[in-house]
Amino acid sequence: MDYFGLFGVLCLWRNTLNSLRVELGSRSYPIYIGSDILQKMDITKYIHGQQVMIVSNETVAALYMDKVCAIFANSAFKLDRVVLPDGEQYKNLQHVNLIFDQLLTAQHNRTTTLIALGGGVIGDMTGFAAACYQRGVNFIQMPTTLLSQVDSSVGGKTGVNHPLGKNMIGAFYQPQMVVADINFFSTLPAREVSAGLAEVIKYGLIYDPEFFVWLEKNIADLLAKDVDAMCYAVQRSCEIKAEVVAVDEKEQGIRAWLNLGHTFGHAIETHQGYGNWLHGEAVAVGTVMALDLSYRLGWIDRSLLERTKKLFISANLPIHPPENMSEDDFLSIMSVDKKVFDGHIRLVLLEELGRAIVTDKFDMNLLKETLSISRKGLL
Ligand code: NAD
Ligand code: GLY
Repeated sequence: MDYFGLFGVLCLWRNTLNSLRVELGSRSYPIYIGSDILQKMDITKYIHGQQVMIVSNETVAALYMDKVCAIFANSAFKLDRVVLPDGEQYKNLQHVNLIFDQLLTAQHNRTTTLIALGGGVIGDMTGFAAACYQRGVNFIQMPTTLLSQVDSSVGGKTGVNHPLGKNMIGAFYQPQMVVADINFFSTLPAREVSAGLAEVIKYGLIYDPEFFVWLEKNIADLLAKDVDAMCYAVQRSCEIKAEVVAVDEKEQGIRAWLNLGHTFGHAIETHQGYGNWLHGEAVAVGTVMALDLSYRLGWIDRSLLERTKKLFISANLPIHPPENMSEDDFLSIMSVDKKVFDGHIRLVLLEELGRAIVTDKFDMNLLKETLSISRKGLL
């Protein structure tokens, strides 16, 4: 029986509650993964004070706020909530300030715990608010999108966008725990499932060739939100992310691999206006561009580029950048990426399936070729 077969049996046998840990010494924490696990586990043991602030957005709160509040029914916790507008365009300091307003108005003290109930936007903003409020309070990640379960809720990157650059204001700040309930996907729009799959495919490309092959075989089940397939994809993605973060929490080395395609992708998001392209959609295009450059540098075979494009297309993801974006647009936005060092653009590229590299040692003319060819739809 292969790993997925074994995992599937364990999932069914154990009624789909699995856990793993992000090992960071005194800041280690568990990730719980499974279907319909919210009511089955005791979240309250990760809350050390008496105050709880649930942070969500209008869409997710309408669907799940009552269900999450029910966890605290008959308990002594003082429960408050703040509901933000929905969208990447609200991921800014102004809207983090609304969280502070609510915390202060409801007199939350240093022992409060924030719960991020939502996708990556809510998770990143809530984590940042937790890092700053009274110089740091506890928070719990309760991710509700595929993208947030496999990526943004794990590893402690928190923050907001600036008009001049994505995720440019932030802090590394780890949660107390992550609860990834697959059941949240029952209401998740298909476009958001596809966006999350872009980050799942990334893990196969940078770290786990077998997982990449598994994704090629199971992409239809994932799009159909098959519970066992989703459980496995979330579990394997979180395992990889936890391993990477455990060795490089502050992105001094291997953690940058997780940004495959992101320098191109962030440029697309910034240029198009936050919220117009989904993060995962921009990452899919950026990944194809990164692989195209890796191929031009002679590092990977053309067949891997073609397999990756095919997989993204099967996942209903775009593979070409927006038509209104010029090479200069890409280059000027990519020049303020967080990985830029000493004025040089550094990119995450692929050396082979399962191994990435962060480098500024590439011929700028080849990068320009990738930008030019991808814009003409010739990738
Ligand atoms: P998102 O948070 O905007 O959520 C996507 C949409 O789905 C929103 O409209 C949301 O209201 C809705 N939604 C959420 N859960 C739902 C559910 N269960 N049912 C129905 N609708 C639901 O987007 P996202 O893709 O989750 O996250 C993207 C953000 O994450 C970006 O800001 C990106 O920069 C960030 N990110 C951060 C990290 C990190 O390491 N911190 C990693 C990757 C991405
Ligand atoms: N999403 C990239 C990281 O967490 O490092």
